[in-house]
Formats: sequence, structure tokens, C-alpha cells
Amino acid sequence: MKSKKQKGTLMLTGLAIATAVLALPARAQQSVEVLHWWTSGGEAAALNVLKGNLEKQGVKWNDMPVAGGGGEAAMTALRARVTAGNPPTAVQMLGFDILDWGKQGVVADLNSVAAKEGWDKVVPTALQHFSKYNGKWIAAPVNVHSTNWVWANKAVLDKAGVTAMPTTWDEYIAALDKVQKAGFVALAHGGQPWQDATLFDGVAMSTGGIDFYRKALIDLDPKALGSDTMLKVFQRMGQLRKYVDKDFSGRDWNVASGMVISEKAGFQMMGDWAKGEFLNAKKVPGKDFLCFRTPGTQGMVSFNSDQFVMFKVKADAAAAQAKLASAIMDPGFQSAFNVVKGSVPARTDVPNTAFDDCGKKGMADLAEANKKNTLVGSMAHGHAVPASLKNAFYDVITRHFNGQIDDKKAVAEMVSASKG
Ligand code: GAL
Repeated sequence: MKSKKQKGTLMLTGLAIATAVLALPARAQQSVEVLHWWTSGGEAAALNVLKGNLEKQGVKWNDMPVAGGGGEAAMTALRARVTAGNPPTAVQMLGFDILDWGKQGVVADLNSVAAKEGWDKVVPTALQHFSKYNGKWIAAPVNVHSTNWVWANKAVLDKAGVTAMPTTWDEYIAALDKVQKAGFVALAHGGQPWQDATLFDGVAMSTGGIDFYRKALIDLDPKALGSDTMLKVFQRMGQLRKYVDKDFSGRDWNVASGMVISEKAGFQMMGDWAKGEFLNAKKVPGKDFLCFRTPGTQGMVSFNSDQFVMFKVKADAAAAQAKLASAIMDPGFQSAFNVVKGSVPARTDVPNTAFDDCGKKGMADLAEANKKNTLVGSMAHGHAVPASLKNAFYDVITRHFNGQIDDKKAVAEMVSASKG
């Protein structure tokens, strides 16, 4: 039998242990802070797939959404955070912006996870150009979007008597005409510089073909930029302007998609993130809405890839960051996410089985364009030239679209804008 004293000691020891356990700091939960501009219904639904996957792994998601299609506002918010010495864990980013941040020396090195998971072998080279800086993986690509798409409301086209999908510019104009005459808004558009530039991507490809697009908007050849073909591009932009309703100024892209979804408008020329809005509204491709390449651009793809750039974080946050990077590159995730987002996987080894017909077409078009060398970076979405030049082009295109400068002046200004 234990003496009273012994019992007392034991009790004390027990108490001491209990107190010590209570005093132990709870193991900090892993977390990531992610800056992005995916705030529309379809975009948020897609992002939820990633959030959910991380949460299943015990990683808390701290959301930092900065609204604004194309990501200009998000990039401004990012600069403020980095200047304050407090960058987020990961940031949604496009093309040349990634390389610009790579140069600043503030991004993480993902080479060990990339090597372990064999990213080099499965990510297309065109994307790797933007995911790596000085041979180091600094970003995980989540998708491949493309901008030369048109989205149409099937019922509106039926009512307007548009029976076949236009494949040439003239057929397209004839279809827009019919839709307008039937009392609908022919072209749903939001007057924001990046949206005007998205239209321009497709019109430039359709008018001059892939070589012209490349020479003018990627190589910045002054001859191509100042050519008669460029003049025709602006004339066509002017043609499109006539099919846009009077309230277009400042309208968000997803509101424009909503006009097509709700049978107010016939067409929208927009990247395939628009499909995310149709799906989010429970619309069925082929039945409720149609997707086709900007007339005259079949076989060509102007792409943009959303990548998550990882910033240098403190040692205790690095494990969660690595989990985020590998969750993004997981083949199952790449399928599930892109089915919802409207884009196609950033890996070449993901089957197309889960994708609808527009997604299957997107995957086939991308593979074909890659093979035929008709795959080019989207100017409007940061994959043709760095942000400073992109913004200078935006400015010309938008002023022209709003009637502030004529076709000839716009051509001349494109040439001077390209000089930086
Ligand atoms: C693009 C981005 C897409 C899409 C769109 C509209 O730049 O690549 O993912 O969401 O902006 O916000």
C-alpha cells in the first residue's frame, strides 16, 4: 500500500503532466495564402476543387481574391504585398509577369518537387518557358486556356435563323447581322481594355493568319505592325463594334457571358473561361450553347496558362507550399479542375474522358496547333509580350474601339507602342 505522502506525490506528478500538456502550444495548422482573380461563379467553382483537395490534406486555405478579369488589379495588389515584405504563399499569374517576378529574386525554388514528380516530362515546352526562370521551376501551371473562341446561345441562333456555325469572317458578320435584326444583342461584350484586347487576339489571327500574328505581336516586326493587314484588323474591330449594345462600357466579362446565357445576346468572343459560366448556370454544350473557334482561326490557338507562382516563404510555411504545388500538378486534379474551369490540362498525360465536347475540342486543337507550330501566346493575356508593351497595345486598341482614333492612326500607334 502506498503511504499518504507517496499518493500525494503521484497526484502532483499527474497534475504537473496535465498542466504541461495543456501548456504545449497546439501544433500550428499548415496553411497557404493564395492571391487570385477567380471571383466569377465559374471561376470560384473551379478554385473550390483546389481548396477542397488541400483541406483534405489538412492545409488551411486563406483566400485573397482580387476581382478583375485578366488580373491587372491582382498584380497591383501583389506589388503592394511584396513591397511590404509580406508576399502571399502563391499567386495566380500569367506568362511574362511570371518571368518578371522571377527576375526580382523573390520567388521560391520548386525544383525538388518538380524533379520528384517528373514535371519536365509532362508539361508542354511552351508552358515551361513561363514556369521556369534561369532553369528553376518557380510556378506550377494549372491549365491552358485559349482566347480565340466564340460562345453562342443556340436558341437565339435558331430564332435568328443562323443554321450553321460561321467558319469565315464574312459568314460571321452575316450571322451577327441576322441576330441583331432578330432583336437580340448580337455581340455581348464588356468594354474593358483587356476584353477589347481579347477580341483583338482573335481578329488579328483571323485576318492575317498565324505568321502575321507572330510577326506583329510577338516579334514586334514594325513592317507587320504597320501593314495593310493591321489596317484590316482595325477595320474589322470597327465592324464588331457595331454589334455591341450601348451599355457595354465597363461591363465585366461574366456579365457579358450572362447575356448570352439568358438569351439576351447571340455571341460572345471570349477565352474558354466563359464556358465555366455556362456550366455553372447548368447549361449544356451542344444543346443550350455552342462553342467554335473565332471564324478564320480553326487550327490555330492563342493560349494563356494560369500558373501559381510560389513566393519565398518562411521555413515553417514551406511544407504547405510544397503540398500546394504538388496538389496543382496532380493529374486527377488537373482533370477535375479544368472540366469546371473551361480550360484544358497543363499536363499532356491527362485523358480527355471527363471533358465535354468543347473541352475535347480544346484539347485536340491544342495538340494539333502544337504539332503544326500554330500555337502562339495570347497578347491580351500576357503570353506574347511583357506587361509594359501589353498595356501600351491595350491602350491603342481600346481608344480605337471607343472611336477616339481612326483605323490609320491606330496602326501608326501600334508601331510606336511596340517601341516601349
Ligand atoms: C484570364 C485567366 C483566366 C480567366 C480570365 C478572366 O486572364 O487566365 O483564368 O479567369 O482571366 O478572369
